[in-house]
Amino acid sequence: MKERILVTGGTGYIGSHTVVELQNAGYEVIIIDNLSNSSADVVDNIEQVTGIRPAFEKLDCLDFAGLDAMFGKYKGIKAIIHFAASKAVGESVQKPLLYYRNNLGSLINLLELMPKHGVEGIVFSSSCTVYGQPDPENLPVTEKAPIKKAESPYGNTKQINEEIIRDTIASGAPITSILLRYFNPIGAHPTALLGELPNGVPQNLIPYLTQTAIGIREKLTVFGDDYNTPDGSCIRDFINVVDLAKAHVVAIDRILSKKQKDKVEVFNIGTGRGLSVLELIHAFEKATGVKLNYEIGKRRAGDIEQVWADPALANEELGWKAETSIEDTLRSAWNWQLKLRERGIQ
Ligand code: UD1
Repeated sequence: MKERILVTGGTGYIGSHTVVELQNAGYEVIIIDNLSNSSADVVDNIEQVTGIRPAFEKLDCLDFAGLDAMFGKYKGIKAIIHFAASKAVGESVQKPLLYYRNNLGSLINLLELMPKHGVEGIVFSSSCTVYGQPDPENLPVTEKAPIKKAESPYGNTKQINEEIIRDTIASGAPITSILLRYFNPIGAHPTALLGELPNGVPQNLIPYLTQTAIGIREKLTVFGDDYNTPDGSCIRDFINVVDLAKAHVVAIDRILSKKQKDKVEVFNIGTGRGLSVLELIHAFEKATGVKLNYEIGKRRAGDIEQVWADPALANEELGWKAETSIEDTLRSAWNWQLKLRERGIQ
C-alpha cells in the first residue's frame, strides 16, 4: 500500500470518483465529508467498485478540533485532496456568507493543521470560473490568462482560496500545492455505481438533461441561442469525471515524488475541445438513441459565453490527458440515470 491520502468531500461527485482512482493506484484513502450534499452509501459503492473500503469519518472541515483529532487518529497522512465545498453558483449569490464561511474556513483549517501533522501537500479543486469570460485572443484559455473579477461569491471563493494557498506557502509553510482548474466535469463511473446526484432541481446541464430524457423533467431549456458562437448557444469544455479523477492521482504522485517545479503549480484540466450546448444535446441523442425534449429559452444571468481549455501544460508536465470520448461520457451519464431509477432513487 502506498501513502495515506485524505480526501475531503470524498463522498461527493468528483470526490468519489477520485477515491476510486487513488485506490486503483495503490493509495490508502481516508474520506471525510459532512454529508451535506452526499450520502454515506457512496462508501459502499466505492467498495463495490474497487474491493477496498476506504476509511470514512463524517466530519465538517469547519470543525477545527474534529479535524485535529482526525489527523491524530489516522497518523501519517501525507497529502490532502480538498474537494469539500459549497458549489452552487446561484445559491452563492443568495447566501454569500454561507459560501465564504464554508469554502474559506475549511481551507484555512486544513492549511493550519498540515504542518502540525506532517502533511506535505494539498491538491485544491479550483475552477475555470477564475478566468471569467476570457478575451477572444485568450481562447483556448491557458493558465497564464488573466484572472477576471468573479461573477459570483462561489467563483470568488475559488479565487480567494487560490490566493490563500499562495500566501501561506510564500510565508514559508512547509507544504506544497497543486491547483487544478476544472472545466465542466460530466459523466459517471462506467460501472454506473457512482455519479452525480444533485439535491432537488438540478442547476447544471447534464443532470437536468438526463432527468428530462428519463421523464422526471418535462423539457430542458437551452439558456440562449443568441450568443456570438457558431450556433448561438454557449460553449464549454466538458471533461469526463473519471479522466478528471485521474488528474488528481498524477498530481498526488507529483507532490509526493517532489517533482514539482514550483511550490504552487496550477493546471487546467479540460479536453481542449469546446462544444456548444446544442452540440452536446445532439451528441447525447446520437450516443444514446434517446430523443430529448428541449426548447430555446432566455439567457441565464451570469453565464459565460464561451470557454474551453488549453490543457497543454497538464498534458506535458503531468503526463495527463483526457481520454474518454464525449459519446462514451454521455452514455455513462445516461446509464447512471437509468441505474438511479432502477434503485428507486430518482
Ligand atoms: C458553473 C460554474 C463553474 C462551476 C459549475 C458547478 C461559472 C462560469 N461556471 O459552470 O465554475 O464549477 O457551475 O456548479 O460560474 N444550461 C442550459 N440549460 C440548463 C442548464 C445549463 O442551457 O438547464 C447551459 C448553461 O447556460 C451553460 C451550460 O449549459 O451554458 C453549462 O451550464 P452548467 O452545467 O450550469 O455549468 P457552468 O455554468 O458552465
